[in-house]
Order: sequence, then structure tokens, then C-alpha cells
Amino acid sequence: MASEEIGELAKRRGFFFGSNGAYGGTAGFYTFGPQGAALKKNVEDAWRDRFTIREGNREIEAPTIMPEAVFEASGHLEGFDDMLVECPECGESHRADHLVEAVTEIEDAEALPGSEVEELIADNDIACPSCGTPLAGVTVEDFNLMFATDIGPGDGQPGYLRPETAQGIFVEFPRLKEYARGNLPFGITQIGPAYRNEISPRGGLLRLREFTQAELEQFIDPEEDEPPLDRVRDVSVRLYPATEQQAEDGEYVETTIGEAVDEEIIGSPWVGYYLGVAKEWYDRIGVDLDRFRFRQHLAGERAHYASDCWDAESEVDGDWIEIAGFSYRADYDLSKHDEYGDDAFTVFKRYDEPKTVERATVDPDMSVLGPEFGGDAAAVAEALETLAERDPDAFDSETVSVEVNGDDQTVDTDVANFSVETVTENGEHLTPHVVEPSFGVGRTVQTLLAHAYSEDEVDGEERTYLSLEPEVAPQDAAVFPLVTNDDRLTELADRVAADLREAGVAVAYDDSGSIGRRYRRQDEIGTPFCVTIDRDGIEGDGPETVTVRERDSAVQVRVPAEELATELTALRTG
Ligand code: GAP
Repeated sequence: MASEEIGELAKRRGFFFGSNGAYGGTAGFYTFGPQGAALKKNVEDAWRDRFTIREGNREIEAPTIMPEAVFEASGHLEGFDDMLVECPECGESHRADHLVEAVTEIEDAEALPGSEVEELIADNDIACPSCGTPLAGVTVEDFNLMFATDIGPGDGQPGYLRPETAQGIFVEFPRLKEYARGNLPFGITQIGPAYRNEISPRGGLLRLREFTQAELEQFIDPEEDEPPLDRVRDVSVRLYPATEQQAEDGEYVETTIGEAVDEEIIGSPWVGYYLGVAKEWYDRIGVDLDRFRFRQHLAGERAHYASDCWDAESEVDGDWIEIAGFSYRADYDLSKHDEYGDDAFTVFKRYDEPKTVERATVDPDMSVLGPEFGGDAAAVAEALETLAERDPDAFDSETVSVEVNGDDQTVDTDVANFSVETVTENGEHLTPHVVEPSFGVGRTVQTLLAHAYSEDEVDGEERTYLSLEPEVAPQDAAVFPLVTNDDRLTELADRVAADLREAGVAVAYDDSGSIGRRYRRQDEIGTPFCVTIDRDGIEGDGPETVTVRERDSAVQVRVPAEELATELTALRTG
């Protein structure tokens, strides 16, 4: 099913549509209608069930606006850029790397330097997609994707809308580790909005300026912590490792998670574990696994914080789209916040047995150092202390040199008052490593719609239906009185709908149009069961009955009205 058809059905049936239509629309923002909001929420609940509850992790909810200092530390201020080219004629902005990828064999132009992209634009006669003006000679600029704002009135401090939910977890690590009583491994999840001022939003929910992420930050001791890999060892996967062949031939490996980790096709067992969990989860919510794969990032493609990354990709409308990323962030984020922030982003790792070690120190009171040290005696003392730890032998000579603020400072070892003491240590401060499964909820929703879209013939009539998994379908069931001019039928239909809702079943009620049309309407939004109240169900001496029609097979069964809630709950959960 083409993206335009998804877009058309999504709008017509209340899944999603471009926001602010009354004011001309705002590119990159979508509103979820009643069906879409329910589908999205069900996907989030299924994610929470799998990645938070069943993994024994804990969920938090952090603010979406954060101060500039956070993004200075995280590297987003410096490096969260896309390459922008602005048409000199019509003023439209475009992603320079996308323009190049569209007309060359290059798959990852984002990894190229701007000057090379400029040359490729000129060599390939690339023109502005909006007005056709040649773009040769136009400068390619780095455009930071974060939305800036001010926190507070007047000269309030600068802030940014978070470009990933992850930073809201990292900055609270000093407190979160206490809730985990300082013990690794532990995982923190968050589901919520992220914001990126994308240059060219496109493809319905695929590239938005506001979108929902479901992220898990798994904190581990890289030396000691192992994931429960056996649980997913036999999960079969299609992998595209980052080799030259991947780029040239699209070569892939059909294997299992266990083998891929054993053979180090997947470098980190934790990443391997979560790829296995994710594959099972995608199957559970209805992603077509024949249109699904994992692809490792090529070196130039990785985000600034990732030392390795695998994407989950689904095929939608002939294109492979990234629906989740599984990054090995190592100690990148916690080390940065430890360096820039005022708190400790480490955990204390207790040794099994206390260790006796020799610790080299210098005189802590370096006030004896005079103005010849540029007044920065404390910095000299700190540099000497670091040297003493690293290379105590350096203090065997009469003088010792250290670099301070870019200058070499030479100090008499007598002044430094170097000594070695024997101390007992019970443990060490360790910066945990982070493994991060990060899911785009909107892209998952769009994948589910594309993969569930089906056409067939029922009773000689063509129909379109969404074969959504009952767990995520917007409605659990629909109730129809066969006719509206018989009070006995409408009274029973009202009662059945009310009882089902009371039992927690999400029910649509439809009494307009022919029964065939009502079925089609529900088929198009993927309602798994339609309950029809007819005269056969209320006549005779037996208990009242209703018919239940299953969406995909269109098979109907007759069920006692009293047992309907139990039956539907059983059918829904398989
Ligand atoms: N914390 C890691 C992170 O943010 P990412 O690959 O940039 O990694 C994770 O984003 C997921 O968020 C992607 O796999 C994708 O599904 C979704 N995503 C990213 N940018 C998006 C956008 N502009 N519109 C919709 N979804 C997006």
C-alpha cells in the first residue's frame, strides 16, 4: 500500500492528519484522531509491557524542555546538525545529503564533508526540487535541529526542546542510581515527545518535527554484567552487518541471535539481547516479518554518541525505513554529564575483598607556590596530583614538569612534597556503560498500518480491511442492532454495548446504514470483532444470543449474550 493511500485512509477514518489545517497547516506536525490515538496508545502500552515491566525496568517522566548546559554537555549543541542548502531563487530549504542520495549511488551522503556534498551537487547538476533552479555553487550549511526557547521572562536562561527523551534520563542518573541502590545493571524507560526542527518533514508520520519516542537506557558494568541471552538465543534474524558488501550489494546474513553474538557479528551481547526481544515484540504487535530486518550503521552514519548501532527497519511503500535504533553509547553521556554537571555520574563498585594499594600524593596545600605560577597554584597542584597517581617515578628527579592551562610549569620536587602512602580501598568509582534501544512510535504506527492493509472479496464484494493485531486495534469490538425499528433489538444492543464497556472492552456502536456497510467501516479501522443483534437471538425460550463476526475470515459464530464479555476477552488475547 502506497504512503498516499495510507495518508488518505488515515485521514478519512480518523487515524491521523496534518495539524492546524484551518491556518494553512504546519509541515512536520500531525494530530492523531480517535482511531490513531487509540492505536498509538496501544502500541505504547505493548512496548511498556515488554520493555519496562517484563524486563524488570522502571519508567520515568522528565520535562521536555531542558537548559542549554545539558545539550552543551551531551554534544547536541555542537553536533546535532543536518546539511542544509537554500535555493537562491525561491528560498526553499532542502536536505543537501538527500538531494545527493536521490541522484547518485551514495547511500549515506550525511557522512561526507560539506565541501564534497557541494561538489556532488555541482557535478550532478542538481536543481532545487521546488522551483528547478540549479544549485551548483550554493553553499551547504550545518543546521542545528534543536528548537530553541527561553526559560523564564526577560533574560531568562536559554533552553531547548529535547531532541531525544534519553537526556531526561541521563541528567537524573545521580538520583536514579540511588533508587537502584547503586546496583548495576538497571534499566530506565521513558515514553514521550521529542522535537527536531527537520529541514524536510515527509512521509506522513515518518519524518516529523514533533514525534513520540519510547526509549530504554540500560546501565551496565561492561566488565561484569551479562544479559539473559539464553531467552532469545534461538530467535531468527535477518542481519545486514556494516561491511562493504552491505553498501554495495545489500548482502545479508540469516542467523539466530545466539549465533550472531557468538560469532561477534553483533559486537555487544546486550545489543544482541535487545534485538532478539525487539524482533519478538514486533511480531507480537503485527509487523510483517518478511518486511523487516536489522541493519548495522556504517561508520560515518553513527550519531556522535554511539560506538555501534543497529537499526530495526521495516519496508513501507518500497522503501526501508528506520523504526528503531539500538546504540551502544558506552560511557559517552554519563562521562560528559560528570564533566559538565555538579553531581557524580558514577556508581561505587565494591570489591569482593578490600585491596591494599600505594597511593602517591603531593602536598595538598600548594600555597607555597608563588606568583610565578600565574596565580593558578591550585591548578598546578591538581596537575601534580594527577601525575603522582599516574607516574610516581617522575618525582625521583629534582624537578618535575606539568602542563597547566597550555603552559609547561616546572616545580622543585621538594616544593611539591611528594609522598607515597599505603591505603586500603573497598571499591572504585565506575562510570556505567549504556545500551539504548530507542523506538519511534509514529513510525511503528505507520508500519503497522502499511503491513495490516489488506484487500479481498467477501460475499462477491471487494473490501479493504486492516488486519491489525487485536492487542493494538483502536476498537476491540463493534455492536450493531440489525434494525433500528425493533425496540427489543436496540434495547439488547444498548445493554450489550454497556456491559462490554463496563468489562473494559473498547466498543464502537453503529446503527446506521446496511449491515454490510457497517462491517466495511469497522474492517477499514481494523476492529477485530463485530457483534450483531438480530431477531433469531431474542426469539424462542433459550438465553439471548448474538452473532460475533471475526474480521479477517468474516466467519460468524453465535454466542450467548451473557458470555460475550468473557468470549471477546478470550478471543482478543488469543
Ligand atoms: N536516543 C536515540 C535517538 O534519538 P534516533 O535514531 O535519532 O536515536 C530514534 O531516534 C527513533 O526515533 C528512530 O529510530 C525513529 O524511529 C524515531 N525518529 C527519529 N527522528 C524522527 C522524526 N523526525 N520523525 C519521526 N520519528 C523519528
